[in-house]
Amino acid sequence: MDFVKEIARRRTFGIISHPDAGKTTLTEKLLLFGGAIQEAGAVKNNKIKKTATSDFMEIERQRGISVATSVLAFNYKGKKINILDTPGHKDFAEDTFRTLTAVDSVIVVIDVAKGVEEQTEKLVEVCRMRSIPMIVFINKLDREGKDAFDLLDEVEQKLGLSVAPLSFPIGMGYDFKGIYNLYEKNINLFSGNSKQNIEDTIAFDDIDNPELEKIIGEKASQDLRENLELVNGVYPPFDKESYLKGEQQPVFFGSALNNFGVRELLDCFIEIAPTPRPKKSEERLVEAKEKAFSGFVFKIHANMDPKHRDRLAFIKIVSGTFERNKPYLHVRLNKQLKFSSPNAFFAEKKEIVDISFPGDIVGLHDTGNFKIGDTLTSGEVLHYKGIPSFSPEHFRYINNADPMKTKQLNKGIDQLMDEGVAQLFTLELNGRKVIGTVGALQYEVIQYRLEHEYGAKCTYENFPVHKACWVEAEKNSDEFKEFKRVKQKFLAKDKKGQLVFLADSQFSLQMTQQKYPSVKLHFTSEFK
Ligand code: G4P
Repeated sequence: MDFVKEIARRRTFGIISHPDAGKTTLTEKLLLFGGAIQEAGAVKNNKIKKTATSDFMEIERQRGISVATSVLAFNYKGKKINILDTPGHKDFAEDTFRTLTAVDSVIVVIDVAKGVEEQTEKLVEVCRMRSIPMIVFINKLDREGKDAFDLLDEVEQKLGLSVAPLSFPIGMGYDFKGIYNLYEKNINLFSGNSKQNIEDTIAFDDIDNPELEKIIGEKASQDLRENLELVNGVYPPFDKESYLKGEQQPVFFGSALNNFGVRELLDCFIEIAPTPRPKKSEERLVEAKEKAFSGFVFKIHANMDPKHRDRLAFIKIVSGTFERNKPYLHVRLNKQLKFSSPNAFFAEKKEIVDISFPGDIVGLHDTGNFKIGDTLTSGEVLHYKGIPSFSPEHFRYINNADPMKTKQLNKGIDQLMDEGVAQLFTLELNGRKVIGTVGALQYEVIQYRLEHEYGAKCTYENFPVHKACWVEAEKNSDEFKEFKRVKQKFLAKDKKGQLVFLADSQFSLQMTQQKYPSVKLHFTSEFK
């Protein structure tokens, strides 16, 4: 098959949700419909279980298992679908943000009873800022939940989206009868015991057809007609262009656990979801169909085997083809590298591939060459943008507990930060190192890995910081000089050498902003 056709059949996306909304179940059902797995239960491993939150070794073990499920690929109706796993656990939110830089679209899963939850808000905001096309899937319709219109309102208001329902539920919970599919104009009837079966559908393009009463009863028919009238009156019709620009979000209803509404979602998804999108580099916009290869590292996964410090770097291919044993330019190191065993991902397995196309993810074995955000190309000097750091939630000094092992400690910290486990800040005043993380759990992970992989020991000391803010200022201005002098104690450099202000309270942050208005404080490292 030719290059252009290969690109056109690729759909690379992520599923995002608040934990427990049904992301894992939906992922699994998509694979089931795609024929990639034979039975439910196969994907469960990529879920970090709630019960394990206090046991980081267990989490690391599960993360180890989840390497294989980091990318789940399958073919469906001639399309190659790549699902990128986004950890639901909030301590790994950074991982999820980074993965979102590699998707071309997302599906947002919302629990019908819980509505829009905190983690969903954060993740959708990131997608909205980047104009990533989003489809909303409202899940668990087999349970009592919120009224469909209230939910649509909530999605618009809390998530700032403009929805266009493409399906609508007929009843809910105990009375749940099925779904009317506005996109395909048919009805899917729900039977409570359909769990492992794929439903039959009834074509129904005229909702006024009196046959409807026979199928779902009088009351439900009347309700459905009224609801659809309201949908048509209140919401704009679905517009693919607006969806692709990130300006409108189609909504589906269903029950992942019961295989309900999943096929409709998948069939519509492959029709409307974008093929690999162009990506901005610092130098220029790069199109998928360009022949020269380029790609970037969005995730690094450490091997759990402490004997060899082998890691897997995940590369999203932006343009051209990636071929085995061909030399590519590692732009940051200005070095040619060849890869003899690039991994591609199929369903829940990974295997060595000779050639991969834009939209695909390849996993490269790495012994320390890669950092998150690195670009690989056929030769052109390109730097892909869009892997920003966000302010961590926790900050601690890291101290060396074994002076004989300083070198090992520094190397370990360096490499763990390259993997994106946490963020390192070096204080301007005294050069002390501060580790910032999203979840407290990472401190244990770092301590354990430093000891077992690098033979170094560390201790931590609290360092009260409210927020890390990246500083943008006119270097020679008097105000900036004054800011640097007065706030010296709170200034640090991040790993890339960018200046960061570590505000110790919301109050001091506000005061600083007022006092030095020309010094701009940003909550993300990428603000230009
Ligand atoms: P997550 O990845 O978003 O965290 O959610 P996950 O799919 O693990 O689903 C969370 C819980 O919600 C699971 O129950 C799952 O079975 C249930 N669930 C998912 N989809 C539906 C649905 O459509 N209807 C109903 N009623 N439940 C649904 P659990 O008891 O936590 O786990 P398990 O024992 O079933 O694995």
